[in-house]
Amino acid sequence: MKKFFVVNSWGKGESPIQFASVPKQQKADISAFKKAKKKKKNIKDSSTASGQIFPRPPLAPPPSPPPITESPALKQSKSILRGRVTKPNKKSKPAKESPNKIKMPTPKPTQSSSFEAKLKENLMGGRFRFINEQLYTMSSKSANKLFREDKSAFEAYHEGYRHQVQKWPMNPLNKIIKFIKKLPKDSVVGDFGCGEGKLGQSVPNKVFSIDLVACRKDIIASDMANTPLDNECLNVAVYCLSLMGTNLNDYLLEANRCLKMGGILLAAEIESRFDDVRQFIKSLENCGFSLIKKDASVKLFLFFQFKKVRNVGKEAKLTPFSLKPCVYRKR
Ligand SMILES: C[S@@+](CC[C@H](N)C(=O)[O-])C[C@H]1O[C@@H](n2cnc3c(N)ncnc32)[C@H](O)[C@@H]1O
Repeated sequence: MKKFFVVNSWGKGESPIQFASVPKQQKADISAFKKAKKKKKNIKDSSTASGQIFPRPPLAPPPSPPPITESPALKQSKSILRGRVTKPNKKSKPAKESPNKIKMPTPKPTQSSSFEAKLKENLMGGRFRFINEQLYTMSSKSANKLFREDKSAFEAYHEGYRHQVQKWPMNPLNKIIKFIKKLPKDSVVGDFGCGEGKLGQSVPNKVFSIDLVACRKDIIASDMANTPLDNECLNVAVYCLSLMGTNLNDYLLEANRCLKMGGILLAAEIESRFDDVRQFIKSLENCGFSLIKKDASVKLFLFFQFKKVRNVGKEAKLTPFSLKPCVYRKR
């Protein structure tokens, strides 16, 4: 028994308060309870210090996401965001292969790029038609000057001409090439107004290729009214769509000078250029040629085969003649 003394508030002296003593077993229980309580407090303190309420097991790495297969629509949206706008091809059937292989429609040229191409084509076509018309309506001297002063005109003209040839049922030059291939290989040919010189590259014969502009080393740059060729050096003289200009007598008299007697003059022209074919034949007769064959078997064109039958000098007084200009329509 323990005795405690408390102050008596009424001041009449001290009076002891007596507490019953705690049995031994009860003491042990209390001490065990206190220990457990203290341990619990310690655990709580250490966990709150690391910001966790309860200690957690270490985190497992996050699972990798499943592979994403982009839908066509998603792909297209992405491409639009990148600035590319492609129209889906309505006609294209859905792909039959595995669903992962999605066939996207082939991108078509954008409106602006096809507009630019069309504009460029129109401008080129316009330039070709302008140069072409000039060549038909001026003398060979002026045509020569035109190409001397504008170095890009020849290339522009021939780019347009190539385009034009593709629209024809055939290139008349091919018929002439076929004809020359049948001649003896030692026949010497003069290609007057050769353009890009295809004839010279297509036959085994010696060919003098002549044009106002020489776009290759083997081409002679010269007005075909006055070439550097020797007298009577040719077996064949060719004019394939090259009877342009207003002084055709000058060209044909130059052919007469360069051709051997009995030599062949081949001419191909667009049919619509002739007002009067008989008058054309007459004009050639005046220049010393005789008609052997006129061929109208190919649509759009007329082919002539003449033979040199006499010498006619350049001093001959002949009636000037020309053919109608061939004006190509707008593409
Ligand atoms: C329509 S192209 C034909 C080109 C070539 N004969 C062909 O069939 O592919 C006419 C050619 O004649 C040429 N030409 C026109 N007048 C000429 C002249 N006076 N002298 C030389 N060449 C001329 C032009 O420069 C042009 O290359």
